[in-house]
Amino acid sequence: MSKTLIANWKMNLSLKEAVKYIEVMKPISSKAKSEIIIAAPFTFLSGLKSVIKSAKLGLAAQNVAAEKAGAFTGEISASMIAEAGCDSCLVGHSERRIYFQETDDAVNKKIKILQEQKIAPVLCVGETDVERQKGLTQEVIKRQLKVGLNEITNVAKLSVAYEPVWAISTFQQSALKQTATIDQIEEAHLMIKKELVDLYGEKGKKIKILYGGSVSPQNCDMIFKSKFVDGALVGGASLKVLDFIAIINAVK
Ligand code: PGA
Repeated sequence: MSKTLIANWKMNLSLKEAVKYIEVMKPISSKAKSEIIIAAPFTFLSGLKSVIKSAKLGLAAQNVAAEKAGAFTGEISASMIAEAGCDSCLVGHSERRIYFQETDDAVNKKIKILQEQKIAPVLCVGETDVERQKGLTQEVIKRQLKVGLNEITNVAKLSVAYEPVWAISTFQQSALKQTATIDQIEEAHLMIKKELVDLYGEKGKKIKILYGGSVSPQNCDMIFKSKFVDGALVGGASLKVLDFIAIINAVK
């Protein structure tokens, strides 16, 4: 299956910079071997969609409210991001889980609400360094998958991103301070695949499992060589368009 590469800009760039980036990216993504998606801040979405138009470049939100509509000051609903032109949305990113106390139950509600709007969820899972050191990696990821996907039966457009929290550049102050080795990535991806097959049978085999955590032009070759990695969720290295293009070009 072709790979999916997502640029997670987080809370960075200005709208002007973002538009410039998209203009450079459009011809690249139309020729790319992989599916390319930009996960942009909420306020950029409509503006970027009007630049992307019908080009082969996906647009994702980085988060969504766990409620459909109503008195939730400051929240953005799935129908709003659909209206803004998003086709996919990150859910349960570790920064949401850690800084905003997002629970697996909230993640589950968000996935259900996104699916009602026909937006493809990208479920982010991954253990912290403390959990890994305590030998809880499998247990944590299995819980995140089981609870996050509770009562979800339609997985045709779902993908999972494995992001060990300790390998994400944001959290590099953690004790481990390192990027994941290919063995660690493959071990986790295999375990996630097995869990998805347990949950969904044959359909589970087709769910893409992306890797995220300090993916860069320097290490992406090694990561993309693995047949267990179906793409990447790229944070810091996606902020400079040339770095993200180097990552896109590394897919053989
Ligand atoms: P990073 O972020 O590539 O900067 O480590 C990845 C992510 O948090 O999605």
